[in-house]
Amino acid sequence: MARDSTLGELLRSQGVSRRAFLKFCTTTASVMALPASLVPAMADALEQAKRPSVIWLSFQECTGCTEALTRSHAPTLEGLIFDFISLDYHHTLQAASGRAAEEAREEAMREHAGQYLLLVDGSIPTVKAYSTIAGISNLDMLKDSAANAAAVIAVGTCAAYGGLPMAAPNPTSAVSVSDIVSDKPIINIPGCPPIPLAMTGVIAHYLTLGTLPALDHLGRPQAFFGENIHDRCYRRPFYDRGLFAETFDDEGARKGWCLYKLGCKGPVAYNACAHVKWNQGVSFPIQSGHGCIGCSEPGFWDAGGIYESIARGQFGTGPQIATAALVGAAAGAGAALLARSKKEKKAAAHAASE
Ligand code: SF4
Ligand code: F3S
Repeated sequence: MARDSTLGELLRSQGVSRRAFLKFCTTTASVMALPASLVPAMADALEQAKRPSVIWLSFQECTGCTEALTRSHAPTLEGLIFDFISLDYHHTLQAASGRAAEEAREEAMREHAGQYLLLVDGSIPTVKAYSTIAGISNLDMLKDSAANAAAVIAVGTCAAYGGLPMAAPNPTSAVSVSDIVSDKPIINIPGCPPIPLAMTGVIAHYLTLGTLPALDHLGRPQAFFGENIHDRCYRRPFYDRGLFAETFDDEGARKGWCLYKLGCKGPVAYNACAHVKWNQGVSFPIQSGHGCIGCSEPGFWDAGGIYESIARGQFGTGPQIATAALVGAAAGAGAALLARSKKEKKAAAHAASE
């Protein structure tokens, strides 16, 4: 299919029905918190859209982000949409190598100046010698590629916040994308790895509305990172009743009780895992019996042990963390929190009625 084909033409050539496509648009609009009335316009805009040129740079990373995005069960529409961007440069996925690969990047930057999306996974070592591609340091390649990008999407926690390479003692003096690029819109899609739908949702939003979605204070799309895991967790009723697994093989664990005392960071981790889930909605870490390690939050590697309860107060410093720590330290933790939240709601309703 020609590079300038529309997305609609590409979908039809793949045998994707209009009905399946509308279903994808409905799901995407829903998770992006867009009104349902926008779905037909979204579908029309997506069908007419040309594939945007995408340059994907991989720096200090483990390839988990790319794995996550390519391991969706084919043929999902998210996968197809992702295929139908014009992925003009990607170290892991492209066929070209050596000089030809670098020429593809340069050509895409030249032909789509000001229009291409730059996706980056991995952190950037500021000691240039630590990581180079085609003899170019990661730092120089990022600056060069970002100069004419329409926007930059930092994929995964390493690109968004520095991730594992930046964890103490940070031997490569690694930094995040936003530590280097300051004059372009930057969207952070953290996670170790990030949820594929967050990626396709952001791209679909950009293609249909021509804008980037609303972001939170950490540069993450609010639609996917606006709620913490805890508030959508199916084990929450156990937390609220103060029923906690104390070990991974006790009766509480077998009964699916809350993993808070086993180090779950769900109360302080903002991500869509609990409702979007992974692998076509099959599961997410907590459903598999392991607490959330807070992989979508900055500095999570250095924020205390994976199995240490956040009641120890090492995971971040926000007010929500203080609340969770305070409540978690007491017996009947969830019940107390629930009571307090009800009291606060009542007080707010009372104030509003005055
Ligand atoms: Fe779920 Fe973790 Fe919250 Fe327990 S502490 S309800 S396991 S998110
Ligand atoms: Fe990461 Fe926690 Fe989700 S560990 S994948 S944010 S459940």
